[in-house]
Amino acid sequence: MSILLTGGAGYIGSHTAVELLNKGNELAIIDDFSNSNEKSLEAIKKITGKDFKFYEINYMDREKLEKVFEENKIDSVIHFAGFKAVGESVKEPLKYYHNNVAGTIVLLETMIKYNVKKIVFSSSATIYGKQLSTRYVETMERKSSPSAYGNTKIMIEQILEDLYKSDNTWKVAILRYFNPVGAHNSGLLGENPKGIPNNLMPFIQKVAVGELKELTIFGNDYNTPDGTCRRDYLHVVDLAIGHLKALEKLDKEKSGVYIYNLGTGSPVSVLELVNTFIKVNNINVPYKIGARREGDLDECYADPSKAEKELNWKASKTIQDMCRDSWNYIQKNIKGE
Ligand code: UD1
Repeated sequence: MSILLTGGAGYIGSHTAVELLNKGNELAIIDDFSNSNEKSLEAIKKITGKDFKFYEINYMDREKLEKVFEENKIDSVIHFAGFKAVGESVKEPLKYYHNNVAGTIVLLETMIKYNVKKIVFSSSATIYGKQLSTRYVETMERKSSPSAYGNTKIMIEQILEDLYKSDNTWKVAILRYFNPVGAHNSGLLGENPKGIPNNLMPFIQKVAVGELKELTIFGNDYNTPDGTCRRDYLHVVDLAIGHLKALEKLDKEKSGVYIYNLGTGSPVSVLELVNTFIKVNNINVPYKIGARREGDLDECYADPSKAEKELNWKASKTIQDMCRDSWNYIQKNIKGE
């Protein structure tokens, strides 16, 4: 039996592929390389010494997707594929609804056709929006997002819940990621977006290697101890392991929809992250304080206790590990993907 990974060549997908292969699973990976490339597939093989099936297809291509199900005995799906640039999604919402939402529907219809009813979905803490408490619990309601990206995550969660209502033999795990950072300690896998990064850690990495001049910290007048925003950064390898635990949980259950926050539960400020990066790597990261970025929340972090209790999953890597591994990776992969 194989596990199908959509978007398995991407940042989180590739790290999860490594953990799954190390545990002896068979994999079929599909990816259209819209935000990844073959290098990560080679890296997965090099790290694990194991092989897997790969198809360069877009998951909206029903015919090609069906061929993957024909050629492999797929038992479960981990669905990573999707566009994720928040700003772009505001400018081009249809691109996001088309690929992320319509694409997921094609995937789910294909799964039904081949009687595969076990799925782990990559969701995001973005679905919580602004809440009264900054420690987010799975029972909090989903809030409409200012970005189409965020709304695609909300819609897909809803689609999965409705699907289960219509057929309660489905097994669904929805994983709400907080802020994944870091890289595989081999330095072979990590995140290195092309151009100017939107997210904090890739920006720090590019300043540290001298590709960008300085980091702008978006505001230091937030309601937090040092005035900069606080987030829940978690190591991508911890996050990858969370997917294995979610699959194990689904294997144990008869059916159901299970929702989990994956985060450390400890908020870290922008200044703390930058200063830790500087300290553990002994490298200068010039920064200045700039204006606030529209839409940023003062603080948000996970209550990860449900995942700990039900999945036996707990993030084990520290902020120091995240900074060290991010630096190790970027030094070895200076040119963007
Ligand atoms: C962002 C997305 C979120 C997505 C998540 C994926 C927005 C508004 N939100 O979350 O939907 O799920 O990434 O990881 O884009 N910062 C700087 N300077 C920079 C870049 C960032 O100070 O050059 C600050 C931001 O203001 C924020 C923190 O760093 O306080 C983290 O930013 P980022 O990495 O973009 O993550 P989120 O905003 O939490």
